[in-house]
Amino acid sequence: MRLTITFWKLPAVAAVAALATVGLQAQTMTPPGPPVKSDHPAVKRGEYIVKSMGCWDCHTPQKMGPNGPEPDMSMWLAGHPAGAEVPSAANVSGPWMGAFSATFTAWSGPWGVSYTRNLTPDPETGIGEWTEQQFIDTFRTGRRQGRGREILPPMPIPALSNLSDDDLKAIFAYLRAVPPVKNRVPEPVMAGGPQK
Ligand code: HEC
Repeated sequence: MRLTITFWKLPAVAAVAALATVGLQAQTMTPPGPPVKSDHPAVKRGEYIVKSMGCWDCHTPQKMGPNGPEPDMSMWLAGHPAGAEVPSAANVSGPWMGAFSATFTAWSGPWGVSYTRNLTPDPETGIGEWTEQQFIDTFRTGRRQGRGREILPPMPIPALSNLSDDDLKAIFAYLRAVPPVKNRVPEPVMAGGPQK
């Protein structure tokens, strides 16, 4: 499975980046995001990275606004909405290899169906129980908390693994400071059956 995922990951990310640009044409700036409960320099730096690297673009569900799709600010970084599982992988052929949902948080491709996850500090449904080291290890190994299952596309692990420990610590500090949102993201559906 690892080879398949690695093979598809990079083109998928490029395609997604292009789609993100199209989908958000009506917007000219990164949305402000909710107020955070700290102005510590690490939190500020983390906010800057999360906003400029587009984490919010995939991890915040989109809803329809007056000028087209826009992030649902009540779900800032809270991942794919609970209870909105897609029925099955998209049936695409020809040059197409994947699809994404209107919320921009459910992704179908050769790996199966993945859902962007809740990065808010909610202890039960977000990453509130994660340690800083587990967060860093996720990016270093491509596995949840450095020891769980492999992280699926289109999460751009190959690109984001280039972030320094200091930058990852800053992102973690910001993610600790955003409002917690209780939202249990559905588990992914693997094309070849459950993943180890
Ligand atoms: C192109 C879309 C995309 C972008 C951009 C993106 N992610 Fe993700 N991310 C995902 C998807 C999809 C998953 C879930 C994959 C899975 O379930 O295996 C995920 C999973 C994660 C996880 C694992 C959480 C868990 O509970 O397993 C973390 C942490 C994470 N992303 C952080 C980030 C950060 C920080 C950024 C920005 C620096 C970012 N992501 C940018 C799509 C994206």
